[in-house]
Amino acid sequence: MLDKIKTLQAEIEKVVASSVEEVDELRIKYISKKGSINQLFADFKYVPAEQKKEVGQAINILKNLALNKINLLKESFDVADSGDSGNDLTMPGEPIKLGTRHPLSLVKNEIIAIFARLGFTVSEGPEIEDDWHVFSALNFPPEHPARDMQDTFFIEKNPDVLLRTHTSSVQIRVMEHSEPPIRSIFPGRVFRNEAISARSHCIFHQIEGLYVDENVSFADLKQTLLQFAKELFGEGTKIRLRPSYFPFTEPSAEMDVSCTICGGKGCNVCKYTGWLEILGCGMVDPNVLEGCNIDSRKYTGFAFGMGIERITMLRYGIKDIRHFFENDVRFLKQFESAT
Ligand code: PHE
Repeated sequence: MLDKIKTLQAEIEKVVASSVEEVDELRIKYISKKGSINQLFADFKYVPAEQKKEVGQAINILKNLALNKINLLKESFDVADSGDSGNDLTMPGEPIKLGTRHPLSLVKNEIIAIFARLGFTVSEGPEIEDDWHVFSALNFPPEHPARDMQDTFFIEKNPDVLLRTHTSSVQIRVMEHSEPPIRSIFPGRVFRNEAISARSHCIFHQIEGLYVDENVSFADLKQTLLQFAKELFGEGTKIRLRPSYFPFTEPSAEMDVSCTICGGKGCNVCKYTGWLEILGCGMVDPNVLEGCNIDSRKYTGFAFGMGIERITMLRYGIKDIRHFFENDVRFLKQFESAT
């Protein structure tokens, strides 16, 4: 009996079929009711008791082998069949509708491209921050109102875990981890505990810039920003710097550009002043450099920060900041198509 099983096994291992009909013939020959394997099961009662275990196992193995083999052969014809099913696999697929880029991404990418041409790289930092990177390292005194719960989202009960209120935190991270010369911009999302209105939102985006090297001067800052404004708003754009205050820059300034709507003549967008404020900037306070282990006698730097929503609103004449976050396709598809 064992010999018979062995012979059958060798036979089944070798079988081939050239059509579905031949596979069916094999099925009948080996595993149908009258097939040779069932015959073995029928003869099983004549096997002496002491051999029953061994023979039984051998028949079962043989049966599985035959089942697998026949299934495999069948499948190979199934696949081959679909080849003749009339489907032309070389036909082009259904076109997929392209979406459009979000207006904030378009403007962000444009700003990144302008600064890339001026030699600035791009870095990013975490949105969930600690007090050191958002406030202390940036020279905010302990009683500064920005540290107030009114302005900052603190998460959990630990006041050292908060959502960054500006991308200036990335300045600190970059200065802590690299040596001058540093010339980089930091785009990212920021969070402030503000009432949502047409002009302000609790989530918005900023791009921060930082340049630290030997002999970096205020003139470098001014020239960099002028070049940026001309590239973003057009060659005829003028800028003006007004003195301002930020804890981490000294001196500090706010930059206005000549109104992108009226060109400086005065209109309701610039409230008849001819100017639009677009960013804050200044020379990095020596205290901030020292806090990041950068020698402030050897190195100086400038920094600037701007809101992407504000610039995008000016760029496209958008009147309400909430449009950016509502995901209304009718609004979103008005901008340049994705490339
Ligand atoms: N972080 C400031 C803000 O959010 C902007 C700024 C950045 C000012 C860098 C000066 C230098 O308003």
